[in-house]
Amino acid sequence: MSNIVYDYIEDYLRSIIPKSEGLMEDMEAFARENNVPIVQPEVAKFLSFIIKSNNAKNILEIGTAIGYSAILMHNAAGSCRILTIERNPDMYEKAEENIKMAKMDSDIKILKGEADEILEKLDESFDLIFLDAAKGQYLQFFPECDRLLKKGGIIFADNVLFRGMVTNRKLLIRRKITIVKRLKKYIDFMMKNKNYETSILPLGDGVSVSVKIGG
Ligand SMILES: C[S@@+](CC[C@H](N)C(=O)[O-])C[C@H]1O[C@@H](n2cnc3c(N)ncnc32)[C@H](O)[C@@H]1O
Repeated sequence: MSNIVYDYIEDYLRSIIPKSEGLMEDMEAFARENNVPIVQPEVAKFLSFIIKSNNAKNILEIGTAIGYSAILMHNAAGSCRILTIERNPDMYEKAEENIKMAKMDSDIKILKGEADEILEKLDESFDLIFLDAAKGQYLQFFPECDRLLKKGGIIFADNVLFRGMVTNRKLLIRRKITIVKRLKKYIDFMMKNKNYETSILPLGDGVSVSVKIGG
């Protein structure tokens, strides 16, 4: 139980989403066996939908892990360019292997290191930014993401309701208090930001989708 949606809703959604095959299926198994957090099926489906409906072709991701969502986004976007940031060498080495196996290494580039340091050096504009790294850092990443996002572009942030802890004090685990406080700040900031239209969806672990309408 995710504390966000009833199990029977989650089970139903997962039952109607076509099962992955080939490399994606293998990556899902690897993630399960090695406790690597990858985007959940219903969030993956929604992310693909957003990419297709916005015709996103230039994509930035913060949090590559093993490259699963980068390959998923490439599958959704077709011909595209994806920059994806990862600081953990075990992760980016595995991601590199997977991206090569998917024959997407000319379109997907992994930027290795701390997102903060990498973001400030980037100088191009993106149609979509997928935030899926340390949850407590989303607000910290925002100014650079805002600078790099074109008008009409989207910031898609995963895990913003963090197992329901953001919405209900009774679910709060003590050692997660700081992350939860920071996630609440990110949500409040985005909801009040006049340059963005933001919607929060109780999907997976909670998704925030913000479209840049001004600034
Ligand atoms: C949830 S996983 C990403 C999952 C991936 N997006 C997917 O769905 O396949 C988060 C990843 O972000 C990386 N990460 C967390 N904070 C980071 C930071 N500040 N800079 C770079 N990478 C970071 C972690 O090492 C981890 O591999």
